[in-house]
Amino acid sequence: MKSLIVFYSRTGVTKKLARAIQSLLGCDAEEIVDLKKRRGLLGFIISCKDAILKHQTPVKPPEKDAAVYDLIIIGTPIWAGTMSCATRTYIMQNRAKFKNVAFFCTAGGSGITSTFRRMEGLAGKKPIAVLGLTTKEVVKNLSKDKIQEFIKSLGI
Ligand SMILES: Cc1cc2nc3c(=O)[nH]c(=O)nc-3n(C[C@H](O)[C@H](O)[C@H](O)COP(=O)(O)O)c2cc1C
Repeated sequence: MKSLIVFYSRTGVTKKLARAIQSLLGCDAEEIVDLKKRRGLLGFIISCKDAILKHQTPVKPPEKDAAVYDLIIIGTPIWAGTMSCATRTYIMQNRAKFKNVAFFCTAGGSGITSTFRRMEGLAGKKPIAVLGLTTKEVVKNLSKDKIQEFIKSLGI
């Protein structure tokens, strides 16, 4: 299966996980760029509010066409118990092109299961595999076995 990893990351944790998955799969990757300012405490508060209200956000147009891939592997940090706004925006703008999906996320510690459920509802497709890790697991490289298991579940 021709696969594409698509991820958003505000502070680099989900990006680190995305790059680890990419290096094992050897596939293409695309970082979703949120054009709204989200730095600092104010950015944090605005992002919580935007996530709770299910707001979309202006994003840089993607370079890769999701339609030419058999599998889109979507990664997000958890914001206020759900996906980040840029991830929501990407899914809504591209879901008609998805053939198969898989999801991964990073979180301080809560909201992983409910976020995957919401991503599934939004994408309109059941994920082939999911991987939810805590920020600590990613930053301290404690997640090698879980990443391997996720890759195996993708069946590529
Ligand atoms: C706006 C905002 C809301 C967050 N809400 C949650 C949350 O509800 N539950 C949780 O476990 N972590 C939450 N976090 C923590 C992030 O999910 C976590 O730090 C993640 O690994 C950050 O990934 P990133 O570096 O790719 O942006 C939140 C972080 C931000 C910025």
